[in-house]
Amino acid sequence: MPSKTTTWPSGWPSFTPKDNDPTDTFQKDLKATIIAEYGADNLRTAWIKTCNALDGVTSRLASQGNNAVPIFEADDILSDSKALEAMKEAGCCIIRGVIPKNEAIQYFEDLKSFIADNNDTVTGWPAKSVAIYHLYSSPIQLKIKTNPRHLQVQRLLNCLWTDSSCSDDELKAQSEPVLYPDGLRIRHPGQEFLGLGPHIDGGSLSRWADEEYRKTYDAILRGGPERYDPYDMAYRKNANPAMFPGGAQCSVMRAFQGWTALTPCKPGEGGLMLVPDIKIVTAYMILRPFFKAPEGDWRKPESWELDHESSWFPGTFRWDSQLLSPASHPHLYLEDTLMSIPDMEPGDTIWWHTDMCHAVETTHNGTGPASVCYIPAAPSTPANLAYMRQHWKDLVAGVPSEDYKYLDGTGSELVLSQQNERAMKGAMSLDDIRVEGRRALGEVCYAVR
Ligand SMILES: [Fe+2]
Repeated sequence: MPSKTTTWPSGWPSFTPKDNDPTDTFQKDLKATIIAEYGADNLRTAWIKTCNALDGVTSRLASQGNNAVPIFEADDILSDSKALEAMKEAGCCIIRGVIPKNEAIQYFEDLKSFIADNNDTVTGWPAKSVAIYHLYSSPIQLKIKTNPRHLQVQRLLNCLWTDSSCSDDELKAQSEPVLYPDGLRIRHPGQEFLGLGPHIDGGSLSRWADEEYRKTYDAILRGGPERYDPYDMAYRKNANPAMFPGGAQCSVMRAFQGWTALTPCKPGEGGLMLVPDIKIVTAYMILRPFFKAPEGDWRKPESWELDHESSWFPGTFRWDSQLLSPASHPHLYLEDTLMSIPDMEPGDTIWWHTDMCHAVETTHNGTGPASVCYIPAAPSTPANLAYMRQHWKDLVAGVPSEDYKYLDGTGSELVLSQQNERAMKGAMSLDDIRVEGRRALGEVCYAVR
């Protein structure tokens, strides 16, 4: 059931060499440093290999459509976790029925009541027509993410990752989930939303500028993209994706971003879009800043030259997520490969690798609200545990955790959040959360042995 983008939304931005800022010596020097470190020949070899491999990937995705997104039943993977391995190449999957459907339907009713009861204090984005609410620990969110089945799914997803710097025992402890807070979305029919075109979360320029982050992509930059393992967290766990502060940054390492549906959502109803391939698409994104397009036919990678001169990192604005567009990343053929995910029902979950290109549909052509709780799978790395210890203190105090202290804006225009979720009507007592959930929320974090 292909579900590709039939009309590319005109409101999504395009990124071109005109974005180059010649005064940005930081980016220019960074590019020169990386070219010197890895070598022009290695970068060129990697570029040609990657673009050639992309040929096969993009034509496969265009013909498969959203059949390329693996689908599992929660009951099946909870009894046989090995089945999940089948999602690693795609880097994303749907796991249905993590929360029983009737429970999820009731949660949505409860959520609407909670927001109505706290209408005077709940904020969201975009402010004029809120689609994403700045709520992180409403009763509904706390109940869903600490649900033992949900936590077990998160654990199994974390276990798909390896860490060559750890022993087996350490890796097992590190795969314990932590509950990084995130917001929720309620999208109404007809409500336009242009805010989330194709992007990759987890920072942007930090992928190249932060040395630990860059080491994650070492095999790609050294000319061997085929050797790149997207699931090795040895360096990624020490990376700083929020190296350049901004409202879109996430400080923790998420194994998979994810959300849990509270309502049905079909393609075209304001839902998620993905490019369901992780290895080759990531290699292309990492290599793209080092090459400039030829005049005329850009398809042949051999005709692209190494870019020594510009400071342009396509679609990269350091305070934002990594942005992509057909103009800046042409070999991805995003018009054909960025696809709406299959139908979702209340209680179903979708998961996508932390480096995966994704977007949110601009229009909602359905008849009912489309609502999801953002709940990722995040492992207990030392840095994640440190974040979560502070998170528990913030949770108890009712204030947003570090990544959500500010609302929209950048630099001196950042607006401090005044919201206190503990003070809201109907706030859930933290004492009512089971031990396993409290630990994942940061109360008593495991020390990784
Ligand atoms: Fe995102």
